Amino acid sequence: MSGERARILVVDDEKVIRDSCTRILTTEGHIIKSAENGNIGLEVFREFHPDLVLVDLKMPGKSGMDVLEEIESIDPNVVQIVITGYATVSSAVDAMKRGAYDFIPKPFTPEEILLIVGRGLEKRRLLLESEALKVEHERIRRNMISLVSHELRAPLAATVQYLEVILGGMAGEIPSEAKEMIVRCDIRLQEMLELLRKWLNLATFDSPKMAEHFQDISLSDIATESIELMKSLAEEKKISLILETSKDLPPIKGSKVSLEEIFNNLISNAIKYNKAGGWVKVILYGREEEVWVEISDNGSGIDEEHLSRIFDEFYRVDGRRNAPIKGSGLGLSIVKKMVDAHGGMIDVESKFGEGTTFRIGFPKFFQRQKEG
Ligand SMILES: Nc1ncnc2c1ncn2[C@@H]1O[C@H](COP(=O)(O)OP(=O)(O)OP(=O)(O)O)[C@@H](O)[C@H]1O
Ligand SMILES: [Mg+2]
Repeated sequence: MSGERARILVVDDEKVIRDSCTRILTTEGHIIKSAENGNIGLEVFREFHPDLVLVDLKMPGKSGMDVLEEIESIDPNVVQIVITGYATVSSAVDAMKRGAYDFIPKPFTPEEILLIVGRGLEKRRLLLESEALKVEHERIRRNMISLVSHELRAPLAATVQYLEVILGGMAGEIPSEAKEMIVRCDIRLQEMLELLRKWLNLATFDSPKMAEHFQDISLSDIATESIELMKSLAEEKKISLILETSKDLPPIKGSKVSLEEIFNNLISNAIKYNKAGGWVKVILYGREEEVWVEISDNGSGIDEEHLSRIFDEFYRVDGRRNAPIKGSGLGLSIVKKMVDAHGGMIDVESKFGEGTTFRIGFPKFFQRQKEG
């Protein structure tokens, strides 16, 4: 749509309606084309690329409803207005339920059609604007991904490697004071790398693509591996890790890497936000159509007022920069996205000062979500 000049297509079998629409709308500077039946209307539509269509519902041959449906499938951003006789007002309502923007009953005055078309064109302008914003948003997202992975992560990873070579003594003896500082640099840089890894994980996550590669996965294998990985973290805080899994636990359809990510995040949280001497329990069981996972701890618990926000990106209960327990606030948003991608559901129960339980139900038989 350029400036105020819009392209409008009128499809109606009554010549008098086509002519009056053309006359009225041309005076507003719009470009009008018209067609006397649905098939011709669709042909013109494909070549003319209108901003807005006025379609009579009741025409001989192809019905107005079919024409609207085809238009919708070609370009959902075209504004559809239905022209109706008094007898077809209820079908106009049907058409609006299926996506038409408005309707105008016959006969209509010039003022009426100008008003309705004017509103429709405003809607078209908003649709095009939001489409442009989406494209811009996607462009920024891609730039950001490439910046983070090439400009930030790659040099950081190289720096960490150098530090590790130095710490390994490969570049000669290091004075103990300097060594301590290098160790601290190493830890801080590892934290940054972990933040970038998590952010990239979220930003590049493509759930339909992941679902294409789903396999049979044993959640007790994943839980066992994750607990093994977290052992040293737990030992540092003298926290016991307990796994209870029913013997005949059925497999689920899923992605190994993503399921590992889910378990690693939840178990590491249960350790991180726990006290010395606490416990973390992982319980797995099958029930009807689902396999359930419960990860509970007797740690700090989460106050009610924060509970609904912990799955938000970057949200941390203690969000201060110098908070004693470090983290990015991305872990649970990754967990949530990955559980969704497996067709599962997650909820959390927590009591401040007593502990927290995350419960996830995974469907045994994953069904791909239909588009739209
Ligand atoms: N088991 C738990 N016990 C108490 N608080 C928790 C628990 N799990 C999560 N939280 C709270 O929820 C917040 C969000 O968790 P999330 O895993 O998303 O981020 P994070 O742990 O801060 O950072 P990251 O996971 O990137 O290291 C945490 O900051 C913490 O306050
Ligand atoms: Mg976390």
